[in-house]
Amino acid sequence: MKRVKLGRTGFDVSVMGMGAGGPSQIGKKQGKTPEHSAAILLEAFEAGVNFVDTAEGYGTEHLVGLALKDFPRDQVVISTKKSSRGSSAEEVVPSLEESLKRLGTDYIDVYSLHGVYDYDYDRCKDELFPEVVKLQQAGKIRSIGITEMFNADKSHDMLHRALDDNLWDVAMVGFNILNQSARDKVLSKAIEHDVGIQVMFAVRKALSDMEFLAETVAALIDEGHVDAADIDDPEHPLGFLVHDDGAVSLPDAAYRFCNYEPGTHVILSGTGNPDHLKQNIASLGRGPLPDADVERLKKIFRKVDSITGQGEWGGDPGPEKKA
Ligand SMILES: NC(=O)c1ccc[n+]([C@@H]2O[C@H](COP(=O)([O-])OP(=O)(O)OC[C@H]3O[C@@H](n4cnc5c(N)ncnc54)[C@H](OP(=O)(O)O)[C@@H]3O)[C@@H](O)[C@H]2O)c1
Repeated sequence: MKRVKLGRTGFDVSVMGMGAGGPSQIGKKQGKTPEHSAAILLEAFEAGVNFVDTAEGYGTEHLVGLALKDFPRDQVVISTKKSSRGSSAEEVVPSLEESLKRLGTDYIDVYSLHGVYDYDYDRCKDELFPEVVKLQQAGKIRSIGITEMFNADKSHDMLHRALDDNLWDVAMVGFNILNQSARDKVLSKAIEHDVGIQVMFAVRKALSDMEFLAETVAALIDEGHVDAADIDDPEHPLGFLVHDDGAVSLPDAAYRFCNYEPGTHVILSGTGNPDHLKQNIASLGRGPLPDADVERLKKIFRKVDSITGQGEWGGDPGPEKKA
């Protein structure tokens, strides 16, 4: 598994990171046992993955802690997150202490404010960030991150301005074949400020469910975000990616597309399925997609900044996004 520097943190990280949230939560959401989830993580660690992302809000920190009973702590880069919305400055220290207990460690490598809405960014920066800095000064966390609320902020307004503040060592952004808007709005700034980037939503539903992909692309055409003339086969709009010199499957294409995008470092993969884990480890060990395929993807989806690839989301869009 290839390793890269996670921006200015200097951490040597695998290009694949295990995501302990999302639709799988390493199997927890499908009712798998803690031992199953820990075994998934251990298999990834044994294969050279050294990065795992979790959060107090996922209820999976203890699963990472369970896996780390059987793997050296200092060989894994742990990213976890403090819920941001509705959290006060007084909650930061107790939250971190609870995370440390669940993870069974005495330090966190990347500690991020989780799912920061654009409307809430200034409060998070003014009230929560100073508390996180104190944790860093106390040696409890090694670097400070921020993650966006992609479902509510599909065109990255929050990260677009947050990166100008140059306070954040690491950021997590939604980026995938269908919505590449982070390239100009976030990744270019991350490169400028040497910010470590974790990518989420590389695959999700649209790149793993072909019927849903076809519906999604059809809707983008109807809304004028994709030109119908750019799609050869509406039933398999991305079928052209799978060929002898190209991707072996659409999830394979999805992870490789993100991995070779300039400015990205760790591509998070969320799975509780041992077969998918093996496939994803192989995908993130492969080279880039052919240039012609990448250029075609850039052209097809150049106007899209309105979807995540997951479909309908029942969460709260936040006050500024309400009608
Ligand atoms: N705001 C935030 O901070 C935030 C928000 C969302 C996510 N995250 C983080 O990002 C991580 C990754 O998120 P993500 O869910 O977007 O990851 P993802 O890897 O893009 O998508 C995961 C989904 O794809 C499926 N999948 C994975 N590999 C597959 C394969 N080879 N073939 C078919 N289906 C496959 C999984 O189902 P199976 O289990 O069946 O494989 C799951 O439903 C999360 O775990 C979390 O740590 C952070």
